[in-house]
Amino acid sequence: MPKSVHAGFTVITVEDYEEMSMVAAKFIIDKVKNNSKLTLGLSTGGTPKKVYENLILDHRKNQTSYKGVTTFNLDEYVGLADTHPNSYHYYMLHRLFKHIDIPDHQCHIPSGLVNDIEEECAKYEKIIYSVGGIYLQILGLGENGHIGFNEPGTSFSKRTHVTTLTNETRLANSRYFNRVEEVPKQAITMGIETILSSQQILLLVSGEKKAKALDACINGELDEDIPCTALQKHHKVTIVADKEALH
Ligand code: GLP
Repeated sequence: MPKSVHAGFTVITVEDYEEMSMVAAKFIIDKVKNNSKLTLGLSTGGTPKKVYENLILDHRKNQTSYKGVTTFNLDEYVGLADTHPNSYHYYMLHRLFKHIDIPDHQCHIPSGLVNDIEEECAKYEKIIYSVGGIYLQILGLGENGHIGFNEPGTSFSKRTHVTTLTNETRLANSRYFNRVEEVPKQAITMGIETILSSQQILLLVSGEKKAKALDACINGELDEDIPCTALQKHHKVTIVADKEALH
């Protein structure tokens, strides 16, 4: 049963990762069915993998169409080509985009391989603005409370920007690389203000490693050292979290 915490929060407790992925996929599919021109903010990492698998299964089975949907990814590593298996471009293409009917030009991910990265950040913000902003932003949660790649200490008023990853985050993400040294040191990320500008947020959290950050997000004070606490400033956040994350 959903229970209300902060005025803007709805917390849905689920058994495990499988159920989180099912509930989240249904949530997204319902929005897409209600609005064929939906603008979705997407995240990467381990958390939404199964959600995307469920969207693909549903697309095949029920023909839910993404032809009118526009997407904006939260972040990308600086220095990785789109074809690099650890880039978020590669992740999104292979885990979602190529399996559904969304047109390529409606899928936006910041590029970490441009000469003028500041210009890329400004351009990304402009495109989001030009389509009327993000309707539903999907978020995962870093072990240190980061959202997107907004690391502890990031001002809540930042929009898309370049960030230096903490050693903690590079270590946590090294599980997807051969060695921690291969994890890029910088990333381009939507800022917290960008994330908070979306109309609705869906935060997905699974596993004990996220419990401390999730507890701060739900029960803590606003604190720029714990970026996820910024979500308390938003009026409509649905948190789907499993028992391990909520213990
Ligand atoms: C990564 C991404 C985030 C993601 C988070 C959690 O570094 N930049 O967008 O939500 O960390 O990742 P995971 O789901 O793999 O635990």
